[in-house]
Amino acid sequence: MIIAIDGPAATGKSTTAKSVAQQLGFLYLDTGAMYRCVTLAVLNEGVDIKNSDQLNDLLSEIDIDIKMEDGSYEIFLNNIDVSVEIRTPDVTRKVSAVSAVKDVRLSMVRNQRKIASKTDCVMEGRDIGTVVFPNAEFKFFLIADSYVRAERRLKDLRAIGEEKSIEELEEDIKRRDEYDSSREISPLKKAEDAIVIDTTYLSIDEQVSRIIEIINIKQ
Ligand code: DC
Repeated sequence: MIIAIDGPAATGKSTTAKSVAQQLGFLYLDTGAMYRCVTLAVLNEGVDIKNSDQLNDLLSEIDIDIKMEDGSYEIFLNNIDVSVEIRTPDVTRKVSAVSAVKDVRLSMVRNQRKIASKTDCVMEGRDIGTVVFPNAEFKFFLIADSYVRAERRLKDLRAIGEEKSIEELEEDIKRRDEYDSSREISPLKKAEDAIVIDTTYLSIDEQVSRIIEIINIKQ
């Protein structure tokens, strides 16, 4: 079974999806982290994303691995734990442009389908219900007010020792949403049959129980 959770940045997708997966005993896959890994590799190797030979060489060399142990979730890029590095402002600034490139998407979508072919999965991202798994059994689309989302990002950033103003964060979020929604390939878009959940006034626990409730009712 595939449960797709899509939506713009900082709507609580990751925490919610992780918890839903834990409660159901499903695999959790954060596809944004995969695009962040490619972005980190692009920055580290100085690859020009407009140069398709360079980019495809990089894509063929990178190995992204996700390990879940005792509730912790770690992302490895070529066997190095990059869970913190992929959340830095440098990566966040560049990730929309990298994830808009066709070859990057083809490679990541192939990986995502392969991973989910082996097991039940809660997959979160921007295009899971529209492109990666248009036939997913359950599709959720999370939204929230942009100021509230900026507050959430500020908390995440502080947790890794970074600081930014709330205004700057709100601007970043709006810019990224605009970029992700207007790109040509697989834009951020609600699938017609997705259930919308506005998380502005919801706690993570409330978001999770709402999703679990819907799954239980419809099953
Ligand atoms: O969820 P996130 O903020 O970690 O995602 C980082 C970026 O990756 C986001 O700006 C858009 C891109 N992304 C995507 O294009 N498709 C996905 N399925 C997931 C993320």
